[in-house]
Amino acid sequence: MRDDRRRHIVAVVERVGVQTRATGDSDLWARVFALLYDPFLWAGERLNTGALRAALLSDASGCTVELGSGTGLNLRHYPEGLDELILTEPEPAMRARLARRLDRSRYRARVLEASAEQLPFADETVDTVVSTLVLCTVDAPDLALCEIRRVLRPGGRLLFIEHVRSESPRLARWQDRLAGPWRRFAEGCRCNRATVELIRACGLELVAVRQGSWRAMPPIVRPLITGVAINRDRREMRSVDG
Ligand SMILES: C[S@@+](CC[C@H](N)C(=O)[O-])C[C@H]1O[C@@H](n2cnc3c(N)ncnc32)[C@H](O)[C@@H]1O
Repeated sequence: MRDDRRRHIVAVVERVGVQTRATGDSDLWARVFALLYDPFLWAGERLNTGALRAALLSDASGCTVELGSGTGLNLRHYPEGLDELILTEPEPAMRARLARRLDRSRYRARVLEASAEQLPFADETVDTVVSTLVLCTVDAPDLALCEIRRVLRPGGRLLFIEHVRSESPRLARWQDRLAGPWRRFAEGCRCNRATVELIRACGLELVAVRQGSWRAMPPIVRPLITGVAINRDRREMRSVDG
């Protein structure tokens, strides 16, 4: 038991300005996908992504907001002593599994229904934003990154693990060819997204990026990056620029 305080469970589910999707086949597949998600990732988690999550999240501090938490695979890796942990997830089937995992665990967190493109937090109020395997799926990653930058305090950090477009032209071509079917199978995931470039373009400063491989997964989603991006103080930067 890492901390007795964590025995007390606080799981609050709130709704925050999320569009509800049409019911039908897409909802059925969303529920099946949520059901299959943990088994599908099981081998990779044991081979390397579990360890990558643990190493990355040991750097979380203060008020921490996770985007697209899915079924909650990051939950057990958060360090003790965070001021607050808020798990956001727009997809109902995923959120139900997340809330259940939280209920069964000894961790304290709030669950919010929110999308990365519209975060329900005031400017400069968050110390750490966590995005693991999410920027591939959001419809408007540029908007999501603007939101991340808006809510982060000066000096606040985005911690990320994302699968990305391959640097190998041959694999990138396969990612492009299979992007449509993969997107339908994986609930909107884009296997060919150049996420590092998007992070750089939004004005966050990349301070550590490591390339790796998402093991035990199809080759089109294997190229992986883990890293940290800092929200430098814009006022400070303006005064340096003169
Ligand atoms: C591949 S799963 C990753 C789940 C979890 N972060 C993990 O590391 O296992 C992508 C998640 O992003 C969520 N998602 C989809 N669109 C989103 C959006 N616009 N904003 C935030 N999350 C979104 C999905 O519902 C899903 O839970």
